[in-house]
Amino acid sequence: MSKRANWGSKIGLILAASGSAVGLGAIWKFPYVAGQNGGGVFLIIYLACVLSIGIAMVLAEMSIGHMAKKSATTAYRNLKGGLWPWAGRLSVVCVFIILSFYCVVGGWSLAYLWRSITGEILTQDTKALGNLFNSFIGDPVQSIAYTSAFLAATVAIVMGGVQKGIERTSKVLMPALFILLLIIIARVLTLPNAIDGVMYFITPDFSKINGAMLIEATGLAMFSLSIGCGTMIAYGSYVDSETKLPGATLWISLLAVLACILAGLMVLPAVFAFGIDPSAGPGLTFITMPAIFSQMPAGQFFAIAFFLLLVFAAVTSSVSLLEPIVAFLMDEFEVERNKATYSIFAAVFVMSIPAALSFGVLADFKLFGKNPFDLMDYVASNIMMPAGGLLAALFVGWAIWPRIQQSLTAQGSTAILPAFRTICAVIAPVVISIVWIHNL
Ligand code: PHE
Repeated sequence: MSKRANWGSKIGLILAASGSAVGLGAIWKFPYVAGQNGGGVFLIIYLACVLSIGIAMVLAEMSIGHMAKKSATTAYRNLKGGLWPWAGRLSVVCVFIILSFYCVVGGWSLAYLWRSITGEILTQDTKALGNLFNSFIGDPVQSIAYTSAFLAATVAIVMGGVQKGIERTSKVLMPALFILLLIIIARVLTLPNAIDGVMYFITPDFSKINGAMLIEATGLAMFSLSIGCGTMIAYGSYVDSETKLPGATLWISLLAVLACILAGLMVLPAVFAFGIDPSAGPGLTFITMPAIFSQMPAGQFFAIAFFLLLVFAAVTSSVSLLEPIVAFLMDEFEVERNKATYSIFAAVFVMSIPAALSFGVLADFKLFGKNPFDLMDYVASNIMMPAGGLLAALFVGWAIWPRIQQSLTAQGSTAILPAFRTICAVIAPVVISIVWIHNL
């Protein structure tokens, strides 16, 4: 058997795992969901979710992979057996579904990067931009073409392997992503009235709290930390024995949260500066932002930077959606990496077609009242991810706790043990069950 791949360094692990976490969730979804949910108050609740259960769950999943040195299914089997490997298989199906619709939005980002280079989207006319967006996502040829281009980039990186593919790419793209964020924020904050957006984003109005918002915040916290679908288990399995997981986990979560905050500070002040409704919804990125850039001095430059940032964020995450499936085939069936990656490429490509066609040809093809894209998003993000997170927490908090305790003690982290166990064994399962039942 070949030796298991390892991250080259602790910083490599941190950048790759935060690359997984920071993605469309932070850059695309967080600003519009915060915009729809009262700004500051949503930020606080999101932060509370990350602090109360998110960080511990990242550590729990990383620890599973780290102890077993295997991806989810094999790890669950080797550490405990019984029915547990099914938790791993569930996670493989979950990342497979997420990847199939994630690469569609990745494709949109790629298309908009190209359109900002050609200047096609630089107009103030939001109606025209809306039409452009809708006709683009409804066009079967273009959406499938861009989806497959994005998927091919993801495949090429994963084919390179853990160190030479994923780690190397993250080491370049993650710093670049944060630099681009800061550059755009600097521009946005110097716009007139930008301060109103900043105030909206940092001043909590607690009267706006409601049940749906709490659920939304917990779901987004899990999604934006890549919890519940085996990604962090796979990434943890490439951590060498010397690396201390709690410290690394803290960094990963910190960067993920920082990205959300910075994305909010990039989008919301711009929205306020141009007098646009912050609750514009999912179109904020593809319809509102181009209109804003078209009115800024040097707007084209910032539009290109913005969509480049989006592509970088999306690709380091899609890589982390593909890797656990590749690792599953490698660990369970000893398939060789390239072969595994090719076969999954083909399968995901097929699955992504209905997702890519959901806004055109298949728009009226509804199952449970949802088009294929929405159905895949709903099933994976609202049902399977929470279930996967719940199982991982129970596994660590109950099934293998003595071994986890031993491993963390060996890493010199005895102080966190009581809190960590309480979160894994009780708090996270309760919170996730509530969210899960509500979603069903
Ligand atoms: N965290 C990624 C994002 O916010 C999505 C993701 C979820 C990646 C689960 C891997 C696993 O876009």
